[in-house]
Amino acid sequence: MKDFIFHVPTKILFGKDQMKNLAGEIKKYGDRVLLAYGGGSIKRTGLYDEIVKIFEDNNIFYKELSGIEPNPRVESAVRGVEIVRENELNFILAVGGGSVIDLSKLIAGAVFLDCNPWDIVIKKEKITKALPIGTILTLSATGSEMDSGGVITNLETKQKLSFGSKYTLPKFSILNPEITYTVNEKHTAAGVADIMSHTMENYFTLNDGAYMQNRLAEGILKTCIHFGPIALENPTNYDARANLMWASSWAINGLLDTGKETPWSVHAMEHELSAFYDLTHGIGLAILTPRFLSHILNDDTVDMIRDFGINVFNINKTDDKFKDAKAAIGALHMFFEQDMKIPMSLTEVGIDEKHLEEMAENAAKHAGGSIRGVVELNKDDILKIYKACL
Ligand code: NZQ
Ligand code: ZN
Repeated sequence: MKDFIFHVPTKILFGKDQMKNLAGEIKKYGDRVLLAYGGGSIKRTGLYDEIVKIFEDNNIFYKELSGIEPNPRVESAVRGVEIVRENELNFILAVGGGSVIDLSKLIAGAVFLDCNPWDIVIKKEKITKALPIGTILTLSATGSEMDSGGVITNLETKQKLSFGSKYTLPKFSILNPEITYTVNEKHTAAGVADIMSHTMENYFTLNDGAYMQNRLAEGILKTCIHFGPIALENPTNYDARANLMWASSWAINGLLDTGKETPWSVHAMEHELSAFYDLTHGIGLAILTPRFLSHILNDDTVDMIRDFGINVFNINKTDDKFKDAKAAIGALHMFFEQDMKIPMSLTEVGIDEKHLEEMAENAAKHAGGSIRGVVELNKDDILKIYKACL
């Protein structure tokens, strides 16, 4: 196992009755708040009214940034920076899923720089300080509530790229599983696929000696496999929503990849699908992952994939390692398709061959020439994986 430093000081306030702590947590950092949210789900659920009342009761000044898009656009960050500067705001409360939280992180850093926020995303500028952020998570998926990164889309340049800074880690996150009861079937399933993908990106590595991390990863995967279908069947099942919410945070907060140094693969390929087609992130990941595993199956990876099948999906071990590994990949595919009701081909989500070549080229380029994950993928490999998904 490689050396590592694990330091994730986000305070988690978990459960049904944590809103009573909101004002106190904010006031540790500021009293002039940017209230950032998405397309209106928080108004429909009553969460917006609850927050505004808390602000009014506690003399917290606030301005709103609403309409943050799924696959958040850089233009919304420009708007947010303007609102913060005009009103001298000193705290950001992000209320939503990954899109709202990611965009809030970009605003928090961009406020202190004299540049377009996109310059941060394309690494022309570096965040050197940031406004403090708190989050109220409304969708279990990205882990943005407990990590320092974000992913921003520029539709003009057809780019969806990630950025990150230690300064943009949320100070606190309120995680109330009940708030996720209203997440629809599609986003519940996509969220589960995203949590599993983060876990698998960290899990599928070779010879790193990170035995404990891998057993924890298997626990998170089993949690998703157990509770994902329950949440779909019964959206108000508290334990299902609670376990998925907590799994979301731990899949990507740095724990599972401690001691490892293998870059991620499937996310790099998925971000091109979202950039070109505005596809829901988790759906793209679900479609890609079984095809990615089939593509990388070889003498080096066969034990790793077979162990995954045995430990996570309880497949029967036979004398034929490759047969077992293929059964593992099949079990993952069937879980997404049958249990989580995810459309499992690009064709089904409206993507044809037209841009595959360009997307493969971009995925390789954005990764620095090739994706150097558990198995190196060049442009041709990526194209083959995309084609296998059609
Ligand atoms: O916009 P509103 O009206 O709020 O509706 C949202 C949105 O339409 C809805 N929703 C959220 N909470 C709800 C709800 N609907 C009903 N009830 C609720 N309680 O769900 C839709 C999707 O929301 P979004 O925030 O886009 O989803 P998600 O949390 O999956 O975030 C996806 C974004 O995060 C990025 C993805 O690439 C994508 O842009 N990621 C961020 C990561 C990170 N920061 O570490 C890592 C991930 O790998 C991922 O790339
Ligand atoms: Zn993801």
